[in-house]
Amino acid sequence: MPSQRGIVITVPVLVLSVLGAAIFLFFLFFSLSSCSCPGPFPAASSGSAVPVGGGARGGIRPTEADIEWVKGQIRANGLHMQDNVLRKGINPRTRAQQLEDLNQFKGISHYEEPDSSNHTALPCPGELLVEEHHSYYGEPWAGGRDVFEFLADAVHLKPDSRVLEIGCGTLRVGLHFITYLDPDHFHCLERDELSLMAAFRYELPSRGLLHKRPLIVRGEDMDFTKFGSGSTYDLIYASAVFLHMPDKLVWVGLERLVGKLKPREGRIFVSHNIKFCSRLGGEECTRRLTSLGLEYVGKHAHDSLLFNHYEIWFEFKRFKE
Ligand SMILES: C[S@@+](CC[C@H](N)C(=O)[O-])C[C@H]1O[C@@H](n2cnc3c(N)ncnc32)[C@H](O)[C@@H]1O
Repeated sequence: MPSQRGIVITVPVLVLSVLGAAIFLFFLFFSLSSCSCPGPFPAASSGSAVPVGGGARGGIRPTEADIEWVKGQIRANGLHMQDNVLRKGINPRTRAQQLEDLNQFKGISHYEEPDSSNHTALPCPGELLVEEHHSYYGEPWAGGRDVFEFLADAVHLKPDSRVLEIGCGTLRVGLHFITYLDPDHFHCLERDELSLMAAFRYELPSRGLLHKRPLIVRGEDMDFTKFGSGSTYDLIYASAVFLHMPDKLVWVGLERLVGKLKPREGRIFVSHNIKFCSRLGGEECTRRLTSLGLEYVGKHAHDSLLFNHYEIWFEFKRFKE
């Protein structure tokens, strides 16, 4: 019989080692997943998986009662997730297949040439009709609502608040603001032509938001002259944008934006990270912000309502009049 040689590990030692490794990995994960902010930046608050807010009572985020209601509806109807296969009256298609169908068959009722475009006030390209632009970014389209709810809560948004988004893309987030705000109270600077086409030719008309007259300007140089100088913003935000821009351009933008932010109550929110600042080093980063009249308020994490994801936000305010 072969001899069994080696180190003997008792069960308690094994359990303690596994526990120690788990704690180490937990802290390692958190230190890697959050941004490396310079020293003086405290964590302000973190989101909760249990939502708060007004929901049906007039607030923006759903309440616990709202969540329980919808869960109850799913239970009461005996609903479980199923495979999306062909069934009576339902013919599942991918976006690509739907676009092919649209181009080839155009649906049951349609006008033939030369009348084919005479009856459509705002003909929309097929790619937009099948919502290809809902998959432009890595994150689900539904995450736009999470961003809106977090920011709206953070600044106590009112219908007459004024909001500027830098890089609103396809309006994944912006359309929630446009829906909620008074006409002309949502502004945006965006550089991508295809995203702007999706916004103007599909999202705004299909959601009945044309009457809200959002001011959306094409541009990439942080030039805000077309937005006028008459009023100041309650909220300026950049959702997944500053990390894609050269640091120098972010600073140019901040310098031009400070005067457009409402002193004291107004807020700038930046998602993901603030490497444009932390790359300078803690002291220099704070000095540059201070010289602009900006103060770092804190860091927040916000949980998604629908999927396992949290967004990190950095908050700034204007301390000078
Ligand atoms: C990841 S997408 C996020 C879009 C949107 N904020 C959202 O959360 O759904 C980044 C957007 O920033 C825009 N962007 C990047 N650099 C820009 C610049 N210099 N000026 C304006 N927009 C810019 C891109 O065109 C793109 O639409």
